[in-house]
Amino acid sequence: MRTDYLKQSLPLNHKNLFLKFLMTIFCLGLAFRILFFHSLSPQISPVLESPFPEKVTVSQPPISSLVQPHSEKCDYFNGDWVPNPSGPLYTDETCDLIEAHQNCLKNGRPDREFLYWRWLPRDCDLPQFDPQRFLNTMRNKAWALIGDSISRNHVQSLLCILAKVEQPVLVYHDEEYKCKSWRFPLYNFSMSVIWSPFLVKAAIFEDINGVSSSEVELHLDKLDSKWTDQFLDFDYIIISTGKWFLKSAIYYENDTILGCHSCSSERNLTELGFNFAYRKALKFVMNFIVSSNHKGLIFFRTFTPDHFENGEWFNGGTCNRTTPIKEGEMEMKYLSKILRDIELDEVPKAASEASNNGVNLKFVDFASLSLLRPDGHPGPYRQYHPFEKDKNAKVQNDCLHWCLPGPIDSWNDIIMEMVVNE
Ligand SMILES: *[C@@H]1O[C@H](CO)[C@@H](O)[C@H](O)[C@H]1NC(C)=O
Ligand SMILES: *[C@@H]1O[C@H](CO)[C@@H](O)[C@H](O)[C@H]1NC(C)=O
Ligand SMILES: *[C@@H]1O[C@H](CO)[C@@H](O)[C@H](O)[C@H]1NC(C)=O
Ligand SMILES: *[C@@H]1O[C@H](CO)[C@@H](O)[C@H](O)[C@H]1NC(C)=O
Repeated sequence: MRTDYLKQSLPLNHKNLFLKFLMTIFCLGLAFRILFFHSLSPQISPVLESPFPEKVTVSQPPISSLVQPHSEKCDYFNGDWVPNPSGPLYTDETCDLIEAHQNCLKNGRPDREFLYWRWLPRDCDLPQFDPQRFLNTMRNKAWALIGDSISRNHVQSLLCILAKVEQPVLVYHDEEYKCKSWRFPLYNFSMSVIWSPFLVKAAIFEDINGVSSSEVELHLDKLDSKWTDQFLDFDYIIISTGKWFLKSAIYYENDTILGCHSCSSERNLTELGFNFAYRKALKFVMNFIVSSNHKGLIFFRTFTPDHFENGEWFNGGTCNRTTPIKEGEMEMKYLSKILRDIELDEVPKAASEASNNGVNLKFVDFASLSLLRPDGHPGPYRQYHPFEKDKNAKVQNDCLHWCLPGPIDSWNDIIMEMVVNE
């Protein structure tokens, strides 16, 4: 039924394994989705919107050796998680902007050690994010985070840190609360999050519970106007994509079907593999950015890995570690690596083309440093006190998004340093 899955990139001996695995997923998928999304309110329904199939890991050199240093001053992405006794800048009690599913402390996560680490590059010091200094620098500026639910996860971290100085005011949201904008009135600073999981034009056939009735229709030669329309209005942009490309989809170019990925056999379409689509879409997005007249600063953030262990998202995979791991201790999963390699191929190249063109595009590679934080996910604590009534309750784990406060607060330390050291 899906024999051609990943044909482009998988060595033959992996094929059967994948096929078997996908059949299982196909059967379990719908049941899981209904179960999983059932209880979510409209505001937060797209939370774990892209549980994705991953199983095979491959032996690879440590990720960091694959990353080209691209920062002039310091390779911020080559470093270690070091103890940070002072802990996070905010908690669930000081910040009311944390979405329920990422509010691990409020949801009763018992351990606290995961809060007391910060990222330290090997080549330079990295001061903790200074919200006062940031807002002073950002007077009259507009920021946007563009991408999927991890971008939404990220924006909350920024907002909670900045809220130490001034409480942001929500000034816009769309119907489903997927796109939002906040203002910091004293600083005339604005922060937006724009929901565009593919960055290219997509028709998604999912109901509010995330149950899909048909394959995504993806136009690999058209951009999603949701972000391109406003692109020049933002001084700073953090753009990202990735995981949604793993979904079943039909690929179009010039309004003509090229083929599909993991689509129903009744369609009689050529399986092209998601890697085909991801590379094409990413090239197209990069091309738009490179040839734009954007005068500010654009960060492309790498997609970040999940940490389901002893299983996957649909069959009891967990993430119950309580401390960071060391480099090389855990391999990035096979499908994640495919996405990542495409990003490593396309984005740094685009960044240097952009620079020749007067466009400031920077590659921020949070994937490898995030891989070292299997302790940073909500796990069962995506729900409020999941074991209160029954110690052995079967609970869905979220090992994809990040607890707030949590490791992604450190992403902002790096972003701030790159902004301030411009
Ligand atoms: C606020 O910032 C916007 C740009 O984001 C600018 O156009 C506007 O003039 C600023 N307002 C004031 C009062 O400075
Ligand atoms: C797009 O399709 C139209 C008609 O379907 C065709 O005339 C045109 O040449 C195509 N363009 C490209 C770039 O393939
Ligand atoms: C599927 O496509 C092949 C080749 O394009 C064609 O020979 C075959 O008749 C098609 N089958 C159906 C059911 O459309
Ligand atoms: C973590 O989960 C695994 C099952 O995935 C279990 O065997 C182990 O006991 C758990 N560890 C803790 C500390 O709960």
